[in-house]
Amino acid sequence: MYKEQALLLAFLPAAFGCLNANSNACASFIKSQVATASPFCATFTKSVVTATTGLPSWATNCSNKPSMISAECSCAYTGGASNPTTTLVTTTKATTTPAGQQTTTRTTTANGSTGSGCAAPIDQLVGFAAGVTGGGSGSGVTVTSCSALAAAAKNGGVIRVSGQLSGCGVIDLVSNTSLLGVGSNSGIVDGGIRIKDATNVIVRNLVFSPAKKGDAVSLDGATKVWIDHNDLHSLGLVGGKDDYDGLLDITHASNLVTVSWNKFHDHWKGSLVGHSDNNAGEDTGFLKVTYHHNDWNNVNSRLPSLRFGTGHVYSSCFTNCPTSGVHSRMGAQVLVENSSFSNVPLACVTQLDSDIDGFLTERNNIFTGTSTTLITQTSNFSPPYSYTMTSASNVCGCVANSAGVGKVTF
Ligand SMILES: *[C@@H]1O[C@H](CO)[C@@H](O)[C@H](O)[C@H]1NC(C)=O
Ligand SMILES: *[C@@H]1O[C@H](CO)[C@@H](O)[C@H](O)[C@H]1NC(C)=O
Ligand SMILES: *[C@@H]1O[C@H](CO)[C@@H](O)[C@H](O)[C@H]1NC(C)=O
Ligand SMILES: *[C@@H]1O[C@H](CO)[C@@H](O)[C@H](O)[C@H]1NC(C)=O
Repeated sequence: MYKEQALLLAFLPAAFGCLNANSNACASFIKSQVATASPFCATFTKSVVTATTGLPSWATNCSNKPSMISAECSCAYTGGASNPTTTLVTTTKATTTPAGQQTTTRTTTANGSTGSGCAAPIDQLVGFAAGVTGGGSGSGVTVTSCSALAAAAKNGGVIRVSGQLSGCGVIDLVSNTSLLGVGSNSGIVDGGIRIKDATNVIVRNLVFSPAKKGDAVSLDGATKVWIDHNDLHSLGLVGGKDDYDGLLDITHASNLVTVSWNKFHDHWKGSLVGHSDNNAGEDTGFLKVTYHHNDWNNVNSRLPSLRFGTGHVYSSCFTNCPTSGVHSRMGAQVLVENSSFSNVPLACVTQLDSDIDGFLTERNNIFTGTSTTLITQTSNFSPPYSYTMTSASNVCGCVANSAGVGKVTF
């Protein structure tokens, strides 16, 4: 072995940590299929895998996550490309479960790689919230009641919600929290969550059926937040449009947020970014949000609506949303690309409801049915991160299969 490889290997396991070979399909695969995994692992003992292109098919067992594959290869092999007789050196073992906590094994569906019709991986954090870690990788606590959820929420960390919890009111999340739904039908009924003045929070795989007079999910002075694979809805466009509030509202200088692979449907007000024309002082320079691979169906408006901030909307599907779509106002800078709008009047609009227009550039989108655009000024925003798009023509099929709950499960 080369000296630098030996040095590197001394550091890698400590840097990444070894996962649980007894329960983790990725680690098990690498342990049991040396002949298949070894040549691939050998190619990146010198560096961390950073791209998903070219991953072998077995990488689906590692959720196609380069960090996970890297960690397992680093844990399992001493060999490099020049040393084909690689040797299994590490037997990772089950982490101990603290009393009162449950360990839940992470599972990924058969379509967990990119999903049918999707070009983008479905289980990857990209965009403005990149780097968010939430409550970390521990097994955390599983809650099955509102009182247990409220208690766990005060402590943060990994919190798994199991079942549909009703009557929780609005639960505040603190910094360094991951709120994760167990299985494919867990969530909060007639309640919501608020992330106020907190940072580094993840919310995934939960059904939110919102409370009257409150937002289902609200971010208020929150930074570094990832909202992924949830289902947010109410009863449809019935009653008054102010009976319910927003599905996902992002206000008071919240910043660095990614909203991905969610289903928003059957509701009046979708997602408001920036709550008031009079809040420039607090909001200017903040409210940076990435929305991608979301499915919007039968939501009246705000898909999203942004004031002052910066929005990047890509590879999303909008169907039968009767009033307006992506709405840029009060000087907000917005880029909308590779998305599909079917029957969405004012699908991309900069001149509506506020005294000052927003900026919006739309490119490579599909507009069908009653969809129109009204753009008075284009945006100069260019995303500062790399990202993988799904084409506008494929995106509705993609998100129908791969957005929402039960796709990335815990
Ligand atoms: C993933 O792991 C399971 C269980 O170990 C195995 O049966 C399956 O063949 C693996 N999938 C791939 C693509 O290697
Ligand atoms: C995977 O996608 C195919 C094609 O859309 C679908 O028929 C199948 O049910 C999906 N499997 C899972 C586990 O989601
Ligand atoms: C969140 O985690 C970071 C990194 O471990 C730590 O420095 C910070 O104090 C934590 N914040 C809170 C509010 O617990
Ligand atoms: C985005 O749309 C453009 C124009 O249709 C297309 O050339 C490009 O390939 C699309 N990107 C993806 C990833 O599909």
